[in-house]
This record gives sequence, C-alpha cells and structure tokens, in this order.
Amino acid sequence: MSVQTRAFVTAAREVAHDLLASMGNRWLHTAGVADRAGELADSLGLDHDTLVASAWLHDIGYAARIKVTGFHPLDGADHLAGRGWPLSVAAQVAHHSGARFVAAARGLGEHLAAYPYEDSLLFDTLTYADQTVGPTGLRVTPAARHEEMLLRHGPDSVNAKVDHLRGPYLLEAATRVESLLRVTH
Ligand SMILES: [Fe+2]
Repeated sequence: MSVQTRAFVTAAREVAHDLLASMGNRWLHTAGVADRAGELADSLGLDHDTLVASAWLHDIGYAARIKVTGFHPLDGADHLAGRGWPLSVAAQVAHHSGARFVAAARGLGEHLAAYPYEDSLLFDTLTYADQTVGPTGLRVTPAARHEEMLLRHGPDSVNAKVDHLRGPYLLEAATRVESLLRVTH
C-alpha cells in the first residue's frame, strides 16, 4: 500500500470518525464494513483506495450534522461532493446497497442520478461488504442482514415497499461477488 493510499483512506476514516464515532453501533458497523471492504479489495484485486474510502464513508449521511434530505446515501454523497471528494467515492456512497430503488420511491431519484451508477464489481463489492456486516459490526450472511434490515425498518417502510426490486438486486450482487471469491480461493 502506498503512502498516498494510506493518506486517502486515513482521510476517509477521519471524516467518518468525526461524524459517526459518537453514534455507537453505527460506528461499529462502519468500521466492520471498512475492514471487510479491505479484505475484499485484496481478494478480488479491486481499487483498494476507492473501495475502502467509500466503505468508511458509506453511512456518514446518518449523522445529524449533515442531514438534508433524510436519505442517508444522498446526504452522504452530497456532503462529500461539496468537499471535493472524488466523484468515484461520492457515487459509491450514493448508490450503496441498492439506494436507487429507495430513492425513486422517495421522490429523490433525479437527485441521486447526479451520481453515476455503475453496474460494476466495485459497486457490487461495497454493497456486499455492507450486506455482510451487521449493525454491531459482526459478520453476517446477506440473508440474515436482509431479514434484520426489513425488521428494523418495519413493514410500512419504503425499504419494505421496494423490497421486491431491491431484495433481488442485493441477492444478485452477493451472488456475483461470492462466485468470484470462490474462483480466487
Ligand atoms: Fe452500512
């Protein structure tokens, strides 16, 4: 890992720490996702900087200090874009874990589309890291995470309403990543 890489990832960690460290489980989850993303970047030969920095930053939109729309992927991406973070990182944050399905249902689809969505292994892998680390930072299966997410948001939530679209996407992303992990191990 180069000095530049460490500096980039460290800067992302510092932003996340500043915004989320006081939020208990949210910080534990974030640290777990960053750790998982680092392992996956190495296993799959992906851009470590972009993936791990994005993992540290993916949930910063939950911080009350930067809340604007109330939709955390978008608030996080807008915060980063406004502070000169690369579009590649802001776009990963904007689109993690199938955010586009929820954004559309919340009337925020056009706003989210300011960040280019990529049908790529890099995007799949951040989503996979997020879907395999539970709320307290422990490793979980994508199926357990999905079940926990639906319970946490509740049956009347937007997440539940779009689950017929988002659920299959999360499963497909996990399958794509896991099939590559089997090939590389
Ligand atoms: Fe997350």
